Amino acid sequence: MKIVLIAALSCAGVAAAAVAQTPAQHAGAAQAPAGGQSAVAGREIFATNCAACHQPEGEGIEGAFPKLAGNAFVAGDPEGVVATLLNGRGGMPSFRDDLKDDQLAAVASFIRSSWGNAAAPIPAQAFAAQRNGTTEVIARPIPAH
Ligand code: HEC
Repeated sequence: MKIVLIAALSCAGVAAAAVAQTPAQHAGAAQAPAGGQSAVAGREIFATNCAACHQPEGEGIEGAFPKLAGNAFVAGDPEGVVATLLNGRGGMPSFRDDLKDDQLAAVASFIRSSWGNAAAPIPAQAFAAQRNGTTEVIARPIPAH
């Protein structure tokens, strides 16, 4: 039930922000983490799932929830960010079962490009790869042999 609610909210947010888009464009954007519409989706997913702890502008709460703004880990190695979202860490819950790979990619890409962070987006495939234990495809090509 929770997954359905999140999906509905995030979809409504995208639709409201992009009323001129056709349904076909809307559906396609969910699979394109680097796209403009995906940035809107990432913002919505962040607001729904993350902001209660990390705060709406990623400023965090000192001593409790790390700030994501200007955070070298957030803007660093994609594998660490993917692992944190999939598995949780410390007081942070796992989002493995609550968010799909394209939603995880959208929110990860959003936090990596917001509040002064300027790192490359993370594709949905990186989340799929770590879920399935094949992390090689995340940031580098698989070497030929
Ligand atoms: C219930 C509160 C809570 C929620 C909800 C939450 N987090 Fe966290 N998050 C934390 C805590 C606490 C830590 C620090 C964990 C640790 O110390 O190992 C953390 C750590 C992180 C880190 C690593 C930061 C660093 O400097 O190492 C990232 C990235 C992150 N969260 C992103 C997110 C995103 C994206 C979401 C939403 C999809 C989210 N979090 C939802 C509590 C939360």
